[in-house]
Amino acid sequence: MTIVRTGLKNDIKMTKNIDHYIKRLDMDRLPAHVAIIMDGNGRWARQRMRERTEGHSEGVHSVNRITRLASDLGVKYLTLYAFSTENWHRPTEEVDALMRLIGWTIRKETPELKANNVHIRLLGDIDRLPEEVRADLQHGVDETAGCTGLTLGLCLSYSARWELTMTVRKLAEAVLNGEIAAAAISEKDIEDRLVTSGIPDPDLLIRTGGEQRISNFLLWQAAYSELYFSPVLWPDFDEECFVSALEEYQKRERRFGKTGDQVKTEQQASGEI
Ligand code: IPE
Ligand code: IPE
Ligand code: MG
Repeated sequence: MTIVRTGLKNDIKMTKNIDHYIKRLDMDRLPAHVAIIMDGNGRWARQRMRERTEGHSEGVHSVNRITRLASDLGVKYLTLYAFSTENWHRPTEEVDALMRLIGWTIRKETPELKANNVHIRLLGDIDRLPEEVRADLQHGVDETAGCTGLTLGLCLSYSARWELTMTVRKLAEAVLNGEIAAAAISEKDIEDRLVTSGIPDPDLLIRTGGEQRISNFLLWQAAYSELYFSPVLWPDFDEECFVSALEEYQKRERRFGKTGDQVKTEQQASGEI
């Protein structure tokens, strides 16, 4: 199996066979869901005396190659933080350029995503996006609705506090309508009303660009995610960087509150080790 090379010209230099990456990984212990805070586009551009928006354009190449690799490896869910609620407060020119880029990218990439069986899911306050961009995004969603491979979650105008606020409103309505008793509200009732409903929690949460913070991303869902902070700016984040994150993830022991001994006993019983 070789990584399909139909993307933008910047991707062409990455021509390694996927077997090279597979050899380094335990394919039985791949994270089912990887979420990424794609940070560092602006700094990447400024370091080159270029406009911040050029960093965003360059970041699209990383989106393409990481999506392709995740799909080729068999990761089931990839969730990308592309534009936060707080990012609306950036200068208008940057916001406008980002909106144009989002529309352009989804239009351009939808055929390849569909060909690779990738299902697009929009996560966020999509109604705040400009109408043309919403139309482009909806087209991408409709085109890939029948795809059964990787689910690509695009977090646009997303923040976890916005999501949790919406969820609380929905639950309050359900209580008022008599659908649920307040005292009976469960974690599942909450999860069912998050924008990520139906998507398992991220196993691995990567942040590029060197900052070590969550920036209002998936606060509920990341309760037990393994966190991986990379100093690499998003436009430079390539297949090698992604596989290194997966390798690091595979070295971690996920205990979910139990003891290490308990985890080992359970793994032995299930034949994992
Ligand atoms: C991430 O890169 C992309 C978005 C938030 C839209 P930044 O634009 O935040 O880049 P830096 O952090 O300023 O370098
Ligand atoms: C987080 O990056 C949001 C996205 C990557 C879309 P920011 O650059 O907005 O985060 P802060 O402001 O450094 O926390
Ligand atoms: Mg940033």
